[in-house]
Amino acid sequence: MKTILVTGGAGYIGSHAVKELINQNYNVVVLDNLENGHREAISKQASLEIVDLKDKEKIAEVFAKHSIDAVIDFAAYLAVGESMDKPEKYLRNNVLNFINLLDVMAETGCGFIIKSSTAATYGNPTKENDIPWKEDFTDRYQPQRSALLEGKWQSKTTFAEDFFQLFINEYYNNIAGRPELRLNDNEITKLRIPMSIYGLSKLLDEIILNKYDKLHSIKSVSLRYFNVCGAHPDGDLGDDKPAPTNLMTVAMLQALGKIPEIKIFGQDYNTPDGTGVRDYIHPSDLATGHIKALEYLFRGGQSEVINLGTGRGASVLEVIGAAEKASSRKINAVKAPRRSGDPDISIADPSKAKQLLDWQTEFDLEQMARTAWNWHSNHPDGFKS
Ligand SMILES: NC(=O)c1ccc[n+]([C@@H]2O[C@H](COP(=O)([O-])OP(=O)(O)OC[C@H]3O[C@@H](n4cnc5c(N)ncnc54)[C@H](O)[C@@H]3O)[C@@H](O)[C@H]2O)c1
Repeated sequence: MKTILVTGGAGYIGSHAVKELINQNYNVVVLDNLENGHREAISKQASLEIVDLKDKEKIAEVFAKHSIDAVIDFAAYLAVGESMDKPEKYLRNNVLNFINLLDVMAETGCGFIIKSSTAATYGNPTKENDIPWKEDFTDRYQPQRSALLEGKWQSKTTFAEDFFQLFINEYYNNIAGRPELRLNDNEITKLRIPMSIYGLSKLLDEIILNKYDKLHSIKSVSLRYFNVCGAHPDGDLGDDKPAPTNLMTVAMLQALGKIPEIKIFGQDYNTPDGTGVRDYIHPSDLATGHIKALEYLFRGGQSEVINLGTGRGASVLEVIGAAEKASSRKINAVKAPRRSGDPDISIADPSKAKQLLDWQTEFDLEQMARTAWNWHSNHPDGFKS
């Protein structure tokens, strides 16, 4: 029986993956600092190691205690808006702590990792045929198309280009003694694609994984997934974050009267109803996608970057409509200005996942809304309920 280390396994998506891994007869060790995760979300059959990825020695102790065959890495911060205010926080957790994990894998000879990446690596489409996003977009990127260089990407206090430099300079300060982790011109160009520091941190992780493959033969699949929504069909797992930003989650919390209103950020996007369009995906579909990616590597597959999405888009108004239908309640949604870092539209081309992993989604938006309502209405205070 293979043992899989799941970092962030106490979180929303990680807990779904842990449950599915156990269903499929894997031995699971969860590594989580429980900052945003919940002990109650972890299947009883999994072992829990309460460790922060900033502590490399503690990670090494986990690898010494359990014989780890592969890692699935979910542990990260993921709020786009917050990443624009606190770039260093995102660099530290999403990149430098991730390097700690990879170093321990290299030292112990663990050669397989599935990485949570994100559609936020793609930025904003500028041509009609950019959508649906294909994985090679980030390889065929032309610098003049950069949202950053066009000056569209601004934070409250700093111009985007300064922000970008700040992030890269901080990265360089932290890897000063490690020339093997420096970036070449092509890699720096690629890093200008995302619209947020969050997206940038994950694209940098993908680049770093490429380096660990060349240096230490660590094989990886980076899974770029789109907007996750819904809850486990068994009703025992759902999204419970201290500061929820997930649209379906906040819609359900509003339907329950837990929050006074939800905000529709931007009504003048280049989309049919003017609100942002995203590819929503259910966490159970993601769980099977991660396990199929793991099996692909165990079969001898090469390192890859693969989209996990449905290939269909839904607007903010359509998601709110699905939440109202599932809850049979009117949701109080108010208009608000655009947030920086949000593209107009983001939809996956999932054909590579179908071809390489034999994977496709099963849940549609209505099922996502139904499972989400089932979880939130039965857990109005989340896992504490
Ligand atoms: N939720 C989405 O819509 C979405 C979309 C695309 C990608 N992702 C990616 O999926 C992953 C999981 O997202 P989620 O929604 O389940 O988030 P989550 O916050 O529910 O789960 C993340 C887990 O990681 C843990 N963690 C964070 N930093 C850690 C550290 N330094 N050491 C140990 N544990 C740590 C947290 O305690 C939490 O349990 C993230 O990497 C995110 O970037 C999420």
